[in-house]
Amino acid sequence: MFPITRMRRLRSSKFRPLVRETRLDVKDLICPIFVDETISKPFEINAMPGIFRQSLDSVADEAASISELGIPAIIIFGIPSEKDETGTHAYGDDDVVQKAVRAIKRQVGNDLIVMTDLCLCEYTSHGHCGMISDSHEILNDPTLEILGKTAVSHARAGADIVAPSGMMDGMVGAIRRALDDNDFKDTPIMSYAAKYCSVFYGPFREAASSGFSFGDRASYQMDPGNTDEALREVALDIEEGADMIMVKPALPYLDIVYRVKKKFKMPTAAYHVSGEYSMIKAASRNGWIDEKRAVYESLISIKRAGADMILTYFAKDMALELKS
Ligand code: PBG
Repeated sequence: MFPITRMRRLRSSKFRPLVRETRLDVKDLICPIFVDETISKPFEINAMPGIFRQSLDSVADEAASISELGIPAIIIFGIPSEKDETGTHAYGDDDVVQKAVRAIKRQVGNDLIVMTDLCLCEYTSHGHCGMISDSHEILNDPTLEILGKTAVSHARAGADIVAPSGMMDGMVGAIRRALDDNDFKDTPIMSYAAKYCSVFYGPFREAASSGFSFGDRASYQMDPGNTDEALREVALDIEEGADMIMVKPALPYLDIVYRVKKKFKMPTAAYHVSGEYSMIKAASRNGWIDEKRAVYESLISIKRAGADMILTYFAKDMALELKS
């Protein structure tokens, strides 16, 4: 008790690093990359200053520069030149993600872990993550086979990990079976297991051209008011064969990150999403917030809550910062 105990004794800059409980490491980071089949040079995303869509010619250089910073993994989002009702260009061997993965693997080799986001919303003309009925219902079961095919095409191109993000029931099981049936039994699945229906994905939809033409994603993504449901979602994905699980978004859902990690003790990722990125950028550009400190505090908080890995658009900035 005071005055014997003085909590401030260890708060001097001399002792702080010694007694810090949580540390960020470059190896915690996963860097998203957008690759656009329709462009010939990198193109900055309006709502995400500092983040670019890469072309099929520039994507391998970008991946190499990420790898040189010591970041262990990337996750690829594709923007195809053609979309249709059923997302045909998600799974062709010569479609955008498949080409990008091959180009990156050719140039960067095996040190960099290449994950692929596995969803249909960038490939469907209506922008939803599944097949639709005439009455605009999002159909679960007919979507599963397409997700399986897409996973196999990613693995065939050389993807190290596939990451289904569409929140269809049974998607992890369907993808696991498709991978196993095609001799990819060692390809892990990182499931976007607890993905909320979030306004913070707003800038991403510009980034990935994945806005929807009707309705919203509330019939498949989770209600922000729910916690126990997240635990059930994660439990089901683990049963279906998920090797790693993700909570998304990150900062508004740290309670979920905490509970999921505590309960399942699985390799757990949190996705610091586009809106979380853009808010910090906008405030710092207005001189309202110190960007570097805001990024550090955000990411350390995500790790403190229990995340083993953080997907973030600040990955390169943070890697540079951690080096210096
Ligand atoms: C695709 C997908 C989305 C994000 C990742 N995968 C968008 C969505 O569900 O609408 C969002 C990522 C971000 O906002 O950074 N299903």
